[in-house]
Amino acid sequence: MKNTKVTAVMNQKGGVGKTTTALHLGIGLAERGCRVLVIDTDPQGNLAKSLGYDPDELPETVADIYGKIMREEGVDPQEGILDGREGIQILPANLNLCPMEMTLMSAVSRESILKDYISLIADGYDYILIDCPPSLGLLTLNNLTAADDVIITVEPENLSAVGMQQLFRSIGMVRKKLNRTLEIRGILFTKVDARTNEHRNVMRQVREAYQDAVPVFTSWIPRNISIAEATGRGMSVYAYKGASAGARAYRSFTEEILS
Ligand SMILES: Nc1ncnc2c1ncn2[C@@H]1O[C@H](COP(=O)(O)OP(=O)(O)OP(=O)(O)O)[C@@H](O)[C@H]1O
Ligand SMILES: [Mg+2]
Repeated sequence: MKNTKVTAVMNQKGGVGKTTTALHLGIGLAERGCRVLVIDTDPQGNLAKSLGYDPDELPETVADIYGKIMREEGVDPQEGILDGREGIQILPANLNLCPMEMTLMSAVSRESILKDYISLIADGYDYILIDCPPSLGLLTLNNLTAADDVIITVEPENLSAVGMQQLFRSIGMVRKKLNRTLEIRGILFTKVDARTNEHRNVMRQVREAYQDAVPVFTSWIPRNISIAEATGRGMSVYAYKGASAGARAYRSFTEEILS
């Protein structure tokens, strides 16, 4: 019986709060006593940066792990994993991951490399969160193949119906061919400015459009300057300003995930 929950945080659109959500859900769950690993699969390396690490100074990254799994070499469960900041472990990424989309094209079982890795290390964790890059390429397909469920972050600003269609088509394809039991955990609105009509309208429209097919979380994350400032300082908003609207929103989202 497998007790580890593997959740991917995705949207092929850039800058919609994926990394911020993976990080703050991860730390929130760790504060509640869970053992959490967050895996960065974006060559931008923002996850490690958000916790104050220099992405150019990482001893090992997810790219090395991918290489080892593809060459069928052993992987030590602690290999490449950075320990402890704000209670979570992270497997970071950096620009070394860039060529991987190309390398994967010719790999055997090219969509299930990450799944193979996770099956080796999952025992040590209650939650494994995967931060997706802003694309629907092979790295994201690996994430969806490895995941039990997926959280889709959506910024109500300039929401693209076509973009959402592409996203759901990719999830549908993965379900059909690669991972039959993949679930959509829900849509999380991020960077919300509740004072603007546009944001309120988009949130209502999305709830109406998807209500039966896709859950939408009750919690939503406001656009909050403390979150942006915390990212710049290499810490979470919990550590930077624990009473801010951003910190409170991510805490209540964490509770919703646990409930
Ligand atoms: N709720 C928020 N309020 C204010 N700023 C936010 C909020 N959420 C995220 N940000 C800021 O917006 C920027 C983009 O957020 P983030 O990196 O989480 O998005 P992303 O979807 O992971 O982007 P990418 O697609 O590039 O990986 C970051 O600088 C972050 O600090
Ligand atoms: Mg990101």
